[in-house]
Amino acid sequence: MKRNIERINRLEQNSALPREELRALLETHSNEDSAHLFARARAVRESVYGKAVYLRGLIELSSFCKNDCLYCGIRRGNQNAQRYRLTEKEILACCQNGYSLGFRTFVLQGGEDAYFSDERMEPLVRRIRTEYPDCAITLSLGERSRRSYETLFAAGADRYLLRHETANAAHYAALHPPELQLQPRLDCLRTLKEIGYQVGCGFMVGSPGQTTDCLLDDLAFLKDFQPHMVGIGPFLPHRDTPFAKEAPGTLEQTLFMLGLLRLLLPEALLPATTALGTVHHNGRELGLLAGANVVMPNLSPVAVRKKYMLYDNKICTGEEAAECRFCLQRRVENAGYEIVSERGDHIRRQTAKIRSKE
Ligand code: 5AD
Ligand code: FES
Repeated sequence: MKRNIERINRLEQNSALPREELRALLETHSNEDSAHLFARARAVRESVYGKAVYLRGLIELSSFCKNDCLYCGIRRGNQNAQRYRLTEKEILACCQNGYSLGFRTFVLQGGEDAYFSDERMEPLVRRIRTEYPDCAITLSLGERSRRSYETLFAAGADRYLLRHETANAAHYAALHPPELQLQPRLDCLRTLKEIGYQVGCGFMVGSPGQTTDCLLDDLAFLKDFQPHMVGIGPFLPHRDTPFAKEAPGTLEQTLFMLGLLRLLLPEALLPATTALGTVHHNGRELGLLAGANVVMPNLSPVAVRKKYMLYDNKICTGEEAAECRFCLQRRVENAGYEIVSERGDHIRRQTAKIRSKE
């Protein structure tokens, strides 16, 4: 009983724990253990970031995707998916709306869509960079060449989100068609970091075939890679995918992973994701209370939101940007935190020694 509490305390002290002890935590924790983990995760997040919660405005620019990931609702094989692309004008209007709502980070996310080539993306990124010099530009456009990543970085992009999805090669193969493999994805992540991007990776919790070992591989990979951000959310089935009948990931397991991540990577930016808000009506608040410190309201035009359906029942598909912004503000405040309108760059903590003497 007390052993898990002691493991959690050691994980907090060292920002690390041997694999077999993490396994024991994952496999044997009680509700009491979870409550302790979340309390320590909050203490660590508050020592690094105080009560601040950072805002990232998500602009979903394309639902076309050349990939066929088995879990994803916008996979190319889904004939029922509704496809759209935002025009440059629409994307800039989202930024303008977002700026006036207090957003200082724009996340341009889309399926892997050849239409958004470097020839189109570079001038767009330059334009946003010029019009919003005080904002961070985050891209989330999947796997691209080093040259492409360099071009977009030179144009003014600061950050890149590319979830690794799972750090276990066999599990990666079970979630993706043969042409998609783990190693090239990890190579992209390393390249992005080398170029100088602030990098976010992440994975789904409870995806089909995920074992404790897969989760331990994720934690080991993240500890080694030291991303600036880690986005996690429960796997949720989409009716038009091969995983339609698979069980969803749970709120409990996702929160537990968030708590572990906060202790393992104290300075990481951890979003309370839309998927977490979909699996439970207060999922995002509970995520904040388990160590998360970022929220990502949707800035996409309402007309396209239902077409960016990665999984069934996705929330926020009928709301305007301002509604999501203020809805999340209320939720963040209910959890005892406050939204700040700064860019919210990753903090490299200088106080590790001070904290461990507390
Ligand atoms: N359930 C939960 N998350 C999903 N994603 C894609 N499909 C699903 C799903 N069915 C996540 C992936 C991807 C991110 C944009 O959304 O992790 O990287
Ligand atoms: Fe979109 Fe609550 S965040 S409606």
